[in-house]
Amino acid sequence: MARIDLDLAHSYRPDPQSDEDYALMPLKFTFDDGGAYALLGPSGCGKTTLLNCISGLLRPSHGTISFDGRDVTAATPQARNIAQVFQFPVIYDTMTVGENLAFPLRNRGVSAAQVKERVGRVAEMLDLSSALDRRASGLAADAKQKISLGRGLVRQDVSAILFDEPLTVIDPHLKWQLRRKLKEIHHEFRLTLIYVTHDQTEALTFAEQVLVMSRGKAVQVGSADALFERPEHTFVGNFIGSPGMNFLAGHWRDGAIEIAGRRYMPELAPATAQALQAAGTFKVGVRPEYLRLAASTDPQAVPVRVERAQDIGTYWLVTATLRDGGDSGAGEASIVRGRLGAEAAALRAGETVWLSAFNRHTCYYVNEELVA
Ligand SMILES: Nc1ncnc2c1ncn2[C@@H]1O[C@H](COP(=O)(O)OP(=O)(O)OP(=O)(O)O)[C@@H](O)[C@H]1O
Ligand SMILES: [Mg+2]
Repeated sequence: MARIDLDLAHSYRPDPQSDEDYALMPLKFTFDDGGAYALLGPSGCGKTTLLNCISGLLRPSHGTISFDGRDVTAATPQARNIAQVFQFPVIYDTMTVGENLAFPLRNRGVSAAQVKERVGRVAEMLDLSSALDRRASGLAADAKQKISLGRGLVRQDVSAILFDEPLTVIDPHLKWQLRRKLKEIHHEFRLTLIYVTHDQTEALTFAEQVLVMSRGKAVQVGSADALFERPEHTFVGNFIGSPGMNFLAGHWRDGAIEIAGRRYMPELAPATAQALQAAGTFKVGVRPEYLRLAASTDPQAVPVRVERAQDIGTYWLVTATLRDGGDSGAGEASIVRGRLGAEAAALRAGETVWLSAFNRHTCYYVNEELVA
């Protein structure tokens, strides 16, 4: 396993002019040896491009990549000793499941006894033990993908294992199982794993560190908890969470925060108050989980009009619009979503309720960036 240092940018164009010409903006990052990472972001944000730069399938147009301090920028995937698992199964149909799993080891001259031991172990982890002697051609897509995963995991000498949306073809309940399996495997073998996905649940359950990408940029790297509690950018606040973070347009006026024409004076760290005052306009970010029904007399509560309340099973999802209490009347109605408890069952569309929006979880954003 290896520590992987990146200091690179990539453009698929021969003569890039502007930021738009870059699939990856300049990025400096270190994947620690033995860490489990996810690259998370919407379609087209550059996840595969980054993964392929790491594996050596793609040479970055700018910068360098090193493994344990050794420059591998020009090295092939074989020389980098990387295992990569793709979105769709890559296996040999004419071989048995066992032969498929053994192939990466036999190819490297590993002894027969070791091959047997290792294949047995990986097959057991992936529930393939009973299928070892079956021909791979007859298997369903998800079983084939399990073999692909196994082929990635079977070698112990790799620098890292890269996964590019490996669970796409797997059905939902098995997906959940395999994700847990991968996590167990990581704990057992301490492999450096880098896992690409656009599914936040997959990323957050699998990885210790998630690198969130947007349009070629790494916008935040952090644990699931950090991404949830302190999104450094509104993009992350919105992308992570179900539903994402609410953002209320705020103004600083006469020593208070004004939202939709009403004044609030939450407790703020001096540096935060200063930054909000200097900016004048900003966004107040509140996770749906941290909104609570409050009394209309609560000075920290924001009045909203209920649009609907849906029973999601473990919580109620309340969709509401922020009511403009100011005299301007110009403000657009903004949508606020709350994850509330059983008390939401009594809410009716059209009624006004108060939601307390200010607490220790509340985040403030100036120019889309978190005010520390
Ligand atoms: N071979 C290529 N030649 C030119 N442009 C490319 C090539 N591959 C990707 N791109 C462009 O680079 C950007 C990043 O693409 P990339 O495939 O890395 O995104 P992704 O995050 O993996 O997306 P997805 O979730 O859809 O797989 C996109 O704008 C894409 O159109
Ligand atoms: Mg991709």
